[in-house]
Order: sequence, then C-alpha cells, then structure tokens
Amino acid sequence: MSLFLSGCTTDQADQVHNEQQKHPSSAETNHPQDQKQYASGSKQNADQQKPSKPAVTNPIPKYEFTPVNPDTLDQKQSEDLARLKDQSVIFNSSRKIKKVALTFDDGPDDQYTPQILDILKEENVHATFFVVGKMAHKNPQMLKRIVSEGHIIGNHTWDHPLIPKLTQKQLESELERADQEIYKIIGYKVHFFRPPYEAIHGGKEQILAKGYQIIDWDVDTEDWKAGRTPEGIYQTIVKEVQPGSIILEHCAGGDRSATVKSLRKTIQYLKNQGYEIVTLDQLLQIPAYENTPTKENTPPADGRV
Ligand code: NI
Repeated sequence: MSLFLSGCTTDQADQVHNEQQKHPSSAETNHPQDQKQYASGSKQNADQQKPSKPAVTNPIPKYEFTPVNPDTLDQKQSEDLARLKDQSVIFNSSRKIKKVALTFDDGPDDQYTPQILDILKEENVHATFFVVGKMAHKNPQMLKRIVSEGHIIGNHTWDHPLIPKLTQKQLESELERADQEIYKIIGYKVHFFRPPYEAIHGGKEQILAKGYQIIDWDVDTEDWKAGRTPEGIYQTIVKEVQPGSIILEHCAGGDRSATVKSLRKTIQYLKNQGYEIVTLDQLLQIPAYENTPTKENTPPADGRV
C-alpha cells in the first residue's frame, strides 16, 4: 500500500492550480517556478482568473464517511449492519432499513454515463459506479465527474474478465491496474470490488486478502440483456426491490439506452414508495475508500490526466 501511494506523481503546476481553487489565498504566492510552469503550459493558463477547463469547477471532493447515528437504529437494525462486516460477499443491506442503492457497472463511457449522471443530478440522488479500469483510462474526465457529483466508485477489474479463468497473477494484475488507474485519476484507493458476471470462484480468497469488500446485488435489472425495454427494467425493480436492496444496472459496455430511459421513472417510484436512495457506503455503513486524498496525493483538478 505504501509503495503504491508513493508511486504516485503529481504535476506541480496542476497541484498549485488545484490548491488555488480550494484556497484562494494561496494564489497570491506566485512562486517563480510555478509561474514558469504555467507559462510553459497552455494559453489558458495566462489568464488564471478565467479557468475554462471543466474539472476546475468540479474539484474532487474530500471523502468523509459519516456513520449513522446508532441512536436512530433499533436492535435488529444494528445487528443486521454489524453482521454485514463479517460477510465475504454482500448482496444486500438490512431489510429493516428503508434504504436502497443504485449501482452502475462497466463504465465510465462518454455516451450513456453522462446521461445517467444528468438524471441523478436532476433527481438529487447519489449512486455507486463499479468502473472498469480501462474504461476509466479512456474516459478520465467522466470518472472525475462521477466523483465530483457526489457518487462513489468501486473496482470492477481492469478488463472485465471471467475471474475463474484467470491465474493468480492475472487476477492480481486485473485488480491492481484498475486500482492504480482509479487512484491516478481521483486520488482514492477503493474498498469495494464487484466481480464481473458475479463470478468469483477460485479468486475469492485472493480478493479478500487484498482487503476488498466484495459486493454483488439482490436486484438484477437485466439491463445487460439484448432487447431489454425500459418498462421491463422498471417492472423488475418494482417487483423485486426491498429495503436494503442493491440494484444492478449498467452505464456502459453496450446499448444502455433502455437503462437511461427507465432511470427517472425508477427513481421516482422508489422515492414515492418511501425509499431513501443512497450510496453503498451509506447503505452498508462501510467506508468506500481506504484513504482520503491529501494535499500531497490529490491529483490535478484542472482536467489534465
Ligand atoms: Ni460488469
């Protein structure tokens, strides 16, 4: 872990740029070396009063895990949440707490993911995205957008393989490459892992030994199936959702237009039924990340990756 953290490099100019957004007073420092680096950058850097790169206005937020107030839970609810921490694979949270989590796998892409993010923002709902490392590598800005808008991230491997077919070394690489890519872009070491195809045989012990919390689901919307309609996705959720449910959807990796089309109706249904839609860390009362980005390891927030 320490080697992994120290292996991260930051660009000084970007780091300063980032810090200036958070601490306006530091903009007055005008360190000569910083000026030189700005000067050698793009023309936009000449006018620091008008940052035009999108991520500047959406810096990576500091992660804060807020445990639920135990006084608000009855004994059964507390016992259910405590038990989750001992489960090697989690499928759902307490059936006694009327909260659910929406999860979106296989992204981020630049087609469906932004549409899903738009709807989540309009509905003021936060979700959990299990990202594929190579997709994050292709779409780093989208990964940043996800996090900057208050959603959380989990690891869904580098290349979405079938884990039972991998050697130990290949699995190690799948996990590490995805982790490092996510870390490079958003500065977080993720804690949640979701195996592709729900297939974990032969790899479970290795994954657990690396400290991940393995997350599956109890409501599969089957939005990954060809020909799936928005109404079909919606009806599956209506039929299967319960308090504590983890709902599986996808934001990339195929035609996700039905997922997008059903999402608003799904969210409004859940709200009308009295469900609180939360991120997985809140649902499970387990932190999503193993670190909080610091001044030293926070990646640049100006759009450069
Ligand atoms: Ni997947």
